[in-house]
Amino acid sequence: MSIKRLGIVVVGASGDLAQRKVIPALFALYCQGYLPEDFQIYGLARTPYDQEGFRRKIAENLTCRYTPGESCAGKTEAFLSHCHYCQGQYSSSDSFLDLFQLMRSVEGDGPVNRIFYMAIPPTVFMQVASAMGDSGLVTCGDREEWLRVVVEKPFGRDRATSDALVQEMHKVFTEEMTYRIDHYLGKEIIQNLMVLRFANIIFEPLWNRHFIESVRIRWAEPVGVGQRGGYFDGFGIIRDVMQNHLLQIMALLAMDPPANLEAGPVRDAKVKLLRDVLPVSMNNLVVGQYGPSESGQQPAYVAEAMVSPRSRTPTYAAAELRINNPRWDGVPFLIEAGKALDERINEVRIRFRKVPHGLFERWGTVMQANELVIRIQPDEAISFEIMNKAPGLDLELIRTGLNLRYQAAFNALIPDAYECLLLDVIQGDRNLFIRSDELAAAWDVFTPALHQLESGHVVPERYPYGSSGPAAGKTLMSRHGG
Ligand code: BG6
Repeated sequence: MSIKRLGIVVVGASGDLAQRKVIPALFALYCQGYLPEDFQIYGLARTPYDQEGFRRKIAENLTCRYTPGESCAGKTEAFLSHCHYCQGQYSSSDSFLDLFQLMRSVEGDGPVNRIFYMAIPPTVFMQVASAMGDSGLVTCGDREEWLRVVVEKPFGRDRATSDALVQEMHKVFTEEMTYRIDHYLGKEIIQNLMVLRFANIIFEPLWNRHFIESVRIRWAEPVGVGQRGGYFDGFGIIRDVMQNHLLQIMALLAMDPPANLEAGPVRDAKVKLLRDVLPVSMNNLVVGQYGPSESGQQPAYVAEAMVSPRSRTPTYAAAELRINNPRWDGVPFLIEAGKALDERINEVRIRFRKVPHGLFERWGTVMQANELVIRIQPDEAISFEIMNKAPGLDLELIRTGLNLRYQAAFNALIPDAYECLLLDVIQGDRNLFIRSDELAAAWDVFTPALHQLESGHVVPERYPYGSSGPAAGKTLMSRHGG
């Protein structure tokens, strides 16, 4: 059903997430004609701005990549005329009443569908929800309009705090209203995982313990925590990246085919898989923390702003996960994530078993395994490594890749993850959002290890900023030829 009127409130509108991701994504949707004609964007934050100041701030991050032929200034001006600002306090229901007044003065009467995007730190999450609830904003309005609330991780610190947060939020917003974002699910190539697996006959028959030896998911960033030390020190790399982004990738890779592509069955399939993942134990987990770079130019983690000088928070972790079901019994899923490493990469490697007989081995060939490599970023690509005869008079075998590089193959702009996810919220498609039972199952995988880590006895291994990571990580990965 097409939407006639839409009001989008960005709570935390002056912050980095809102300014760099959320509002530019809305602009991209606007440029492509995905917003209804009658839409308004309201920013709510503590920073004092007048309307013009707020619009100038937004304009700094807008690019007209979807409408290159048109006047960028004209498009930007038109979009900015839909943006409004309300200064307020997150815990004050009066601030939400002020917001309500502003909305009414802009929109007049009549039903308007609403999205509240919570681009705020987790510490003020509940304050905002309660203030909104108290102001009556959630329950007022006509039956024919809907209200959706978008929330960003972290959703708690472990299973218990996550459950408590879910329950508290449910006092104000129903599960139906809640869209929990994991922005990795909006990335183009992650959305391609189901298509790759289920729309190609060659993969599904091989997608199990009989043909797959190991699965590796690697995530690395070449930068440290920068200005986010305050947040990161309370959470660490396992909560920041593994429990959500990497576990979601793993669920999409390993789940059984859903009954259909509706949000219910897809999320049911992921929950079922996540419940089969055995909790990580300390025998299968290593953690590291970056020290200064060898040149001394980049700081150690403990010297970053807002980080405790005695912090043991891991900035690197590698884990070997096991899935306790007939499809995956015995197959290691190796997941690795680190900040301040020597490259930026997020990649999946599915290693198949070697061919079982040595037909070619008497020529001295070392047979290598087939590998399906899915590079999520940078430079999205899928390649399949196969054994080939090297051209020439001798029979020599080499492993070469069948390569699909997105840039070369598709002459199309790859949308930012937030564009895709925001469009889904507008259209009410819940497929890519995390349901509460899925969240709980994902926490169960890491909660026991997180508690053990935080009992204070585990000292993360130091690695230099800009290096390939701690030695213990390499040892864990190499157990399975990684
Ligand atoms: C966020 C993490 O969820 O994802 C950050 O909190 C991380 O620590 C970021 O840097 C990476 O996102 P992307 O889209 O740049 O890979």
